[in-house]
Amino acid sequence: MTTLRDPIKVGGLELKNRLYRAPVLEGAGSAKDPAAAYARHFVPNAEAGLGLVIQGNTVVVPEGRTSTGMSCIDERRSMLALAPLPAAIHGAGGKIVIQLGHAGVFALDSWHRDFRPYRRTPPWAPSRLPRWLSPLHRPGGVHVPSTREVAELVARFGVVAAWAREAGYDGVQLAGANAKLLHYFLTPAINRRRDRYGGDVVGRTALVREIRAAIAREAGADYPVLLKYPALEWSPIGPSIDLAEGIEIAKLAELAGFDAVTPVHADVLPNTSIARGGYPADSFRRRGVIHKLRQASGSPLRDRLTRVGMWLSTRRYPFTPVWNRPIFSAVKESVSIPVFAVGGIRTPGEAASILAAGQADLIGIGRPFYAEPDLSRRFLSEADSASFVAACESCNECIVPQMAGLPGLCYNPRLTKLRSRRAKRDSSA
Ligand SMILES: Cc1cc2nc3c(=O)[nH]c(=O)nc-3n(C[C@H](O)[C@H](O)[C@H](O)COP(=O)(O)O)c2cc1C
Repeated sequence: MTTLRDPIKVGGLELKNRLYRAPVLEGAGSAKDPAAAYARHFVPNAEAGLGLVIQGNTVVVPEGRTSTGMSCIDERRSMLALAPLPAAIHGAGGKIVIQLGHAGVFALDSWHRDFRPYRRTPPWAPSRLPRWLSPLHRPGGVHVPSTREVAELVARFGVVAAWAREAGYDGVQLAGANAKLLHYFLTPAINRRRDRYGGDVVGRTALVREIRAAIAREAGADYPVLLKYPALEWSPIGPSIDLAEGIEIAKLAELAGFDAVTPVHADVLPNTSIARGGYPADSFRRRGVIHKLRQASGSPLRDRLTRVGMWLSTRRYPFTPVWNRPIFSAVKESVSIPVFAVGGIRTPGEAASILAAGQADLIGIGRPFYAEPDLSRRFLSEADSASFVAACESCNECIVPQMAGLPGLCYNPRLTKLRSRRAKRDSSA
């Protein structure tokens, strides 16, 4: 019977166990030394036994950023500046993959305002969006890239992945969910293109499949490439990805040479379907956050829409343990590459049940690592694992500060107290 402590190979990537940190930490990009900022979070995870860290969405072109704090790799030297991070993770016995992506429509305004060259750059979308969605993007509308421009973006992913390899990362993951650009190419709700990047599921997956091939060319065919993508979505706009198509996407990804997939439920409009839990009322009241969020939103209307949208989605998607189980287990039955589970996994018992039933190959945990950097020790130790429950309350107070460009942290005051109690206990032990 497979357990969390068993090693696994993902393509050429050898992992000592099956626990990974899901990509969440977007806020280190604006730090003076992002490698050190990330290392402060990730090295304790690896020291506590974590097999794999997936570093949060890092954009491959500056105008593809979602928030001011998001890491951007537009030059080789910015990737190489991160090199101390993989080295530190390796030193602590773990592995690290970097997620690469592009914000698409939701490249927030503050970024464009702060960085003059991009001030007038409209965000990218695969096709024109319905008019009623225009309050969500910039007044100038969206830019629908030509076939040549999409092919140039494909090439860019390949080059950035080669830099990632040079910097010591053990692989890359494509950020294909969360209503970002790669998601928007995958979904029939938004992608109405008539060129080779649109049409049926084969056409809509062409972008990620071509990126896979470009990475093989630039970074080497043996460089591990993973895909996180929506295998189920809800859309108020038109046809959406249902589970049958979600399975089809996984099969196409396997054929294209992806080394693993993370299938998730992620709606077409950005909401908390991907991170289910509470409405972060405190964040929307905190002075330091409100002002920055207003700036980032670009207009009072968008600011209000963000709050209302989030309130509605937390009502629609309350926290439920292991909510993606029907999705990843269905995908697992249909492909032979490893399937990564994520979403609401909070106890070692849940992790064990997924692995024992062969419903997925790796167990991902996102928000709980903010509050408990040593979570992996408790998940992996036989003694602790029978009774342990992660402290994270899935309150989602970690989301809003990151949208405003503040660091990725646990902002739940109850858990701050828990952390300081534990630190005191550990130092007196
Ligand atoms: C603050 C925050 C930032 C996130 N950033 C990313 C990201 O950069 N890329 C991504 O694919 N998913 C991102 N996610 C989604 C997580 O990877 C994960 O799928 C989700 O939080 C559910 O797992 P959990 O219940 O263990 O937190 C983010 C989630 C949160 C809360």
